[in-house]
Amino acid sequence: MIEVNVDNIVLETKHLILRAFRADDLSDFNAYASDPGVGEMAGWTHHKDLAESQRILEILMAEKKAFALELKATSQVIGSLGIEYLPAVMPQAFHGLVGRSLGYVLGRKWWGRGLVPEAVDVVVEYCFNDLDLDFLTCTYYLENRQSKRVTEKCGFKPVDVTVAMTRWGEMKDSMLTVRWNPRAGSVPHAQLC
Ligand SMILES: CC(C)(COP(=O)(O)OP(=O)(O)OC[C@H]1O[C@@H](n2cnc3c(N)ncnc32)[C@H](O)[C@@H]1OP(=O)(O)O)[C@@H](O)C(=O)NCCC(=O)NCCS
Repeated sequence: MIEVNVDNIVLETKHLILRAFRADDLSDFNAYASDPGVGEMAGWTHHKDLAESQRILEILMAEKKAFALELKATSQVIGSLGIEYLPAVMPQAFHGLVGRSLGYVLGRKWWGRGLVPEAVDVVVEYCFNDLDLDFLTCTYYLENRQSKRVTEKCGFKPVDVTVAMTRWGEMKDSMLTVRWNPRAGSVPHAQLC
């Protein structure tokens, strides 16, 4: 079992600083997390008020597994990228291997600039080189073409259609995708479907 702790980790891309969330991110966090339809694409409901954002921000800071995406140009936090636990049920080929799942969200006004693929690339490097994970997964609802494109651009390959439950209890068909650590020579590189 590996431990993920993004406190004191700072990653940098061309346009972004990836760092742990801080209490003073509340206003920026609330700005994108309260936008109806954005969180829903990732399976959570948009925040109804600042108090809800405050509560969730405290959870993010305590769990230490999500990076805040800070835009270098303005120092605003415009989204997040989490190194999350794997889905409860994984195909047989993954059993006995060490992996995590990436989850991401970006404020609507910054969509389409390649910012999340930029962040995913640097987090993949961190997970493979520093955490020594065997593989990473990403799961998106089948209708989420935006997230599908992120996985494609970042070298994740489709594995299987699964069912994932949203925070509001709806079961949705989802695509499980995987990217293997190239150093893990003994793991199955062949796709499963
Ligand atoms: C998925 C998400 C993180 C992508 O981030 P991003 O930085 O915009 O990613 P990209 O710039 O690579 O854009 C990905 C695709 O989104 C689509 N897209 C871009 N701008 C868009 C817009 N304004 N509206 C709708 N779709 C748009 C394009 O098809 C693009 O693919 P392309 O580059 O091949 O044209 C972002 O759309 C988002 O936060 N969505 C809501 C939360 C979510 O879906 N999280 C993932 C859950 S699995």
